[in-house]
Amino acid sequence: MRLPATRLCLLGGLATVAFAADFNPPNNLAGYNTSRVGPSNANCNRQSYQISASSDNIVFKGVDSNANQTVNTALFQTFATSMANFTEAHEEKNKNRVSNTFTLSGTLCTPKNSAKHSSYVQMLVHGVGFDSSYWDFSPDGGDTYSYVSAAAGEGYTTFRYDRLGTGLSDHPQDAYNIVQSPTDLAIATQFAAMLRSAQIGGTNFTKVIGIGHSYGSVQMQALTATAPQLLDGVILQGYSVNSTGQLPFLTGGAYQTATAVAPNRFNASEMSNAYVINATPQANQFDFFYFPYFSDAALNRSFITEQPATLGVLFSQTAIQQPANDFTGPVHVVTGAQDFPFCDRDCYAVPADGKYKNVPAYVQEMYPKTRNFSVYIPENTGHGVNAHYSAPETYKEMLSFVEYVFSS
Ligand SMILES: *[C@@H]1O[C@H](CO)[C@@H](O)[C@H](O)[C@H]1NC(C)=O
Ligand SMILES: *[C@@H]1O[C@H](CO)[C@@H](O)[C@H](O)[C@H]1NC(C)=O
Ligand SMILES: *[C@@H]1O[C@H](CO)[C@@H](O)[C@H](O)[C@H]1NC(C)=O
Ligand SMILES: *[C@@H]1O[C@H](CO)[C@@H](O)[C@H](O)[C@H]1NC(C)=O
Ligand SMILES: *[C@@H]1O[C@H](CO)[C@@H](O)[C@H](O)[C@H]1NC(C)=O
Ligand SMILES: *[C@@H]1O[C@H](CO)[C@@H](O)[C@H](O)[C@H]1NC(C)=O
Ligand SMILES: *[C@@H]1O[C@H](CO)[C@@H](O)[C@H](O)[C@H]1NC(C)=O
Ligand SMILES: *[C@@H]1O[C@H](CO)[C@@H](O)[C@H](O)[C@H]1NC(C)=O
Repeated sequence: MRLPATRLCLLGGLATVAFAADFNPPNNLAGYNTSRVGPSNANCNRQSYQISASSDNIVFKGVDSNANQTVNTALFQTFATSMANFTEAHEEKNKNRVSNTFTLSGTLCTPKNSAKHSSYVQMLVHGVGFDSSYWDFSPDGGDTYSYVSAAAGEGYTTFRYDRLGTGLSDHPQDAYNIVQSPTDLAIATQFAAMLRSAQIGGTNFTKVIGIGHSYGSVQMQALTATAPQLLDGVILQGYSVNSTGQLPFLTGGAYQTATAVAPNRFNASEMSNAYVINATPQANQFDFFYFPYFSDAALNRSFITEQPATLGVLFSQTAIQQPANDFTGPVHVVTGAQDFPFCDRDCYAVPADGKYKNVPAYVQEMYPKTRNFSVYIPENTGHGVNAHYSAPETYKEMLSFVEYVFSS
């Protein structure tokens, strides 16, 4: 079975199970210990931002944020069998303008030593299953897997935030018509504009590189199309435009109501049923990891800190993906050789008579005017790139692209 390339499903995260981590209990919804604001080589400031987001949203019908698991499973069945039928049955033809102000948690980190390009910044947007701690991944309390640390070590500033419905950010009850991809894109657009206008850290950042993972990459890709002036370059990590792996990823992920899977972390009186996570650690491994190229600690950490995605996000994800016809900045795609959702576990499985040598290379078709398109495929790496042994090497490669953009 194949899904149309125009309609990828989710992506991005790691999972949890009944023995969830009780960092700073009670009431810490985040997948991180909030005592850790960042790695030891950076000065980090975490704070709340009021974000006004207006977007033309999909209007879902015949759905309910508090429907029970049986009904939600049936919806997944419809979506996975025929997206066309799902759209026909559950989406209105016309979009609806939705405007809200949300509270989102963001963290700015500047290097402690040898700052370089201090008026430039990288904006980091995580995918499904994570919160912003994807970029400061610390399965053992150390900094080895932290992209923020690798960046600070090279002298670069980073800004990351918990997407709407994750971490310390708001969790609106309406998990369809509010928490969906056009809303997430509007929020990302606001943050990029705020970085440029001294509303974050008091600096007018004059160059911004957008870096996404998975669904975060979907948003950064969309941003290069809708507001190309806001970004000077992009890294799309855990991404491609080939959707063959999406369906097995979605079904293998066994998505289930978050408050039922991890009631000690997610409180049903504060989060509606349409916020979902992988039902088991096995489902999480299935989707995000490539054995044996990760540590037990990394896998466990992913299980016990997984963050929910809304069904609105999962069902609307690629509605925002579009050709970036006016984006001239450099584009770098970084996807693990065994990525499940975006390469169907083999990034070299391209048509023999095709135009490109690997699956991620096809992303350049979205960028007719980019001045430099490149691909990096870390070996022995699944979808959760930052949780694999290859992460430090991958970060070096990503940061050499960052230096190229900042110095050119
Ligand atoms: C959270 O981080 C603090 C400071 O690093 C540490 O003392 C504490 O043990 C951590 N808590 C957990 C549950 O790991
Ligand atoms: C779930 O909701 C549906 C539709 O309202 C209902 O038919 C079904 O009995 C419910 N199942 C459970 C287990 O509550
Ligand atoms: C889609 O809907 C049509 C019309 O209701 C139906 O005939 C068809 O079997 C459905 N397709 C799938 C794959 O469910
Ligand atoms: C940021 O740029 C604006 C417009 O150029 C200027 O008015 C403001 O003083 C700058 N702020 C900082 C902190 O540099
Ligand atoms: C869930 O949230 C409600 C309302 O905020 C609160 O009264 C209740 O104590 C919470 N339950 C748990 C288990 O944290
Ligand atoms: C994961 O870590 C938690 C907390 O340290 C521990 O209780 C649990 O047994 C671990 N689970 C696995 C599958 O290793
Ligand atoms: C898309 O992925 C599938 C599964 O790996 C592969 O067979 C196909 O050749 C790929 N197509 C392109 C254009 O990359
Ligand atoms: C293209 O970008 C790479 C970094 O990804 C850089 O090393 C290379 O020099 C660039 N090529 C040109 C022609 O600028």
